[in-house]
Amino acid sequence: RPGWPGIIHVYRDRLPFTADVEVVTLQEGGTPLVEARHLSELTGCRVLLKVEGANPTGSFKDRGMTTAITHALAAGSRAVICASTGNTSASAAAYAARAGLTCAVLVPRGKIAMGKLAQAVVHGCRILQIDGNFDDCLELARKTAAGYPITLVNSVNPIRIEGQKTAAFEVCDVLGRAPDVHVLPVGNAGNITAYWKGYTEYLSDGVIDSAPRMFGIQAAGAAPLVHGAPVSHPETIATAIRIGSPASWGTAVAARDASDGLFEAVTDEQILAAYRLLASREGVFVEPASAASVAGLLLAAADGRLPAGSLVVCTVTGHGLKDPATALDGMVEVEPLPVDPNAVASALELV
Ligand code: F0G
Repeated sequence: RPGWPGIIHVYRDRLPFTADVEVVTLQEGGTPLVEARHLSELTGCRVLLKVEGANPTGSFKDRGMTTAITHALAAGSRAVICASTGNTSASAAAYAARAGLTCAVLVPRGKIAMGKLAQAVVHGCRILQIDGNFDDCLELARKTAAGYPITLVNSVNPIRIEGQKTAAFEVCDVLGRAPDVHVLPVGNAGNITAYWKGYTEYLSDGVIDSAPRMFGIQAAGAAPLVHGAPVSHPETIATAIRIGSPASWGTAVAARDASDGLFEAVTDEQILAAYRLLASREGVFVEPASAASVAGLLLAAADGRLPAGSLVVCTVTGHGLKDPATALDGMVEVEPLPVDPNAVASALELV
């Protein structure tokens, strides 16, 4: 990681940029692949966490935004727009600020986590709260970009997928092989599309000799891919994946089918249990959407769909600080103590 120059410089030969392009980067990527001891014990597998919250704006979106903003700048674009449940907007705002581009974000009113909103505000983008859900925002962003001189930087823009596929390269480069199973949360389905593209490129170039099975996990109240039909009123505590009509539907299904993978739904209770387990047992603080992948992993292990002894990589997509309200929910207020070591010792039941 010391000197890591960002994914465009590291994987330049696998990305569609010319040598002289002006790269907009915050040195994203190169994220930790952390051994998850407790999860490995629970599942009888070797489980590793790809900790994407370690990216510059705290989510995997930075991989796709360095490529999208670099491309937009090179193409002479002056402004970019996206729909977002929060992380895409935070990332777009940061990279656009760096590139000197105007950035507009369409977010579902009242349904984005506080940390993400703070990022959009501080990077100085135009925040338009929409009376609708993410799916409405995306349709609006697409129509605006089609009719006006503004570049769409959602993952329906193929250059986003190019950037995000580098996470699969990193996993293989670190392990010296592909995992047996790759588990990740699925919302708009850009990321599962990107990982699968990365794995299949490495496979066809002979860098790896087999690709992983792809396990895509959705929240039960927003699980169109699991049900095989759009959900008109998606609901879940994991606001990042509160999406009823994923734009990359076809490529997500193709990834599952070609990899002998699966889609699974997890309840908000299961998401929160995995969220707490990750934080309290593995020391990894993620946002609820990210914990959905771990909830799905536990489910698949429990019902036998995850073969014991598998090498499993689980992507945890965003940092826990994105959503402080969920972390603090249920916190018990305690009386302040006097400045006295005896009071501290007795509060800790050391005496
Ligand atoms: N995890 C997090 C933390 C996310 O922010 C998202 C998507 C996903 C998982 C799902 O990824 O959409 O590629 O299937 N967030 C988008 C956004 C929708 O606007 O930030 P996906």
